[in-house]
Amino acid sequence: MFNVTDNPFVYGEVVPTAAFVNRVAELDRLVRDLAAAQKVFLISPRRYGKSSLIRQALAAMARRGALTVDVTVSSFSSYVAFLEGYARALMTAETKWDRARTWLRETIRSARAEVRYTPGASALGAVTVSFPGVRTDRDVSRLALEVFALPARLAQARRRKVIVALDEFQAIGGFNGGSVEHALRAAVQHQRDVGYVFAGSEPSLMERMLGPKRPFYKAGPVMRLEKIPADEFATAIDARFARSGMKPEQGLGAAIVDLAGNLPYDVQRLAHETWDEVRGRGRKRATLDDLHHALKRLLAEHQMMFEAVWQRLTLTQRSALRAVVLEEGQGLHSADVRTRHRLGGASTVQAALGALVRDDVVTRDGDRHVVVDSLFREWVARQTY
Ligand SMILES: Nc1ncnc2c1ncn2[C@@H]1O[C@H](COP(=O)(O)OP(=O)(O)OP(=O)(O)O)[C@@H](O)[C@H]1O
Ligand SMILES: [Mg+2]
Repeated sequence: MFNVTDNPFVYGEVVPTAAFVNRVAELDRLVRDLAAAQKVFLISPRRYGKSSLIRQALAAMARRGALTVDVTVSSFSSYVAFLEGYARALMTAETKWDRARTWLRETIRSARAEVRYTPGASALGAVTVSFPGVRTDRDVSRLALEVFALPARLAQARRRKVIVALDEFQAIGGFNGGSVEHALRAAVQHQRDVGYVFAGSEPSLMERMLGPKRPFYKAGPVMRLEKIPADEFATAIDARFARSGMKPEQGLGAAIVDLAGNLPYDVQRLAHETWDEVRGRGRKRATLDDLHHALKRLLAEHQMMFEAVWQRLTLTQRSALRAVVLEEGQGLHSADVRTRHRLGGASTVQAALGALVRDDVVTRDGDRHVVVDSLFREWVARQTY
């Protein structure tokens, strides 16, 4: 029997410290910028590891005595709901419950804050903040000004540095057009004791938000998160297999990283499922065979979902997608490739690829097109004709 350890690979949630790989330079830079109360923009495609990096940076800042707040902008259904959630997060950044409630009520003057507290679940219990009196657009704008001023008020009141992370920040544009951006930018630029990180997973939206005619133009440093270097990721994967008592076959980590297109989420998913495969067979050696079993199982589990995605595509999009997979994303406009895959004219290919990119099925990686989900890529290669 080998040790009963937990699976060291994590996907689908922010990675815990033990599974966090590399990102030393990025973390260092982010922490330094936040400590200097900069307004940092963190941009990458989905699932590169922004939220995980932010979590590490906030933890580092908390160890240095800062109050930290982490809010996912896209999880709110309306502007007011966002303001309520943001106010709640700021209020609960410190744990003394009574003091926090009094502070919030005294600080927000344009509207009455209703604070509810249900003890239980977490250490703080369940706290909700609502502003039931806020109805008109004008009420909302006035409330927003006060809520956006809260981080600085909190820093002042507690004599601590405050660090705010607004994750999935691109969703802010959906709330109230440009006025949210204006109000937020105006508020944050004078907050000397507050560091912000605005993270976004739709690079084109985020880049546009930083354009010359937009409020956040030159508001602060921009970090574009890249993939983790493949060889370092592969080494880290092998090391984690070994640390959990398994013996990885030569080249296993590299094969996982390669099959996963080096996307952090996909790498961890394959590694996690391979580890389970080895554990399930009660063995110590983790082999390429185990990796292939894990891949097969994952493909079977996703069959229905992938079929549904495939059904939604037009015929030209299906051919274009197959070409992306089989040609490894290169030369898709050439006459040769178009003929081989019966893709039609160059403009048809262009339109089909454009639609696939818009639907987040395919993305551009330098001069290549790649399928976003490496598992879907394998499914297309094996299950479509
Ligand atoms: N530094 C890292 N080391 C190892 N795995 C990582 C790392 N960063 C991210 N991952 C893997 O990628 C997954 C996605 O990470 P995370 O949620 O942080 O990305 P994200 O960029 O915030 O994604 P999204 O755009 O979907 O919000 C994690 O669950 C984990 O499996
Ligand atoms: Mg995220």
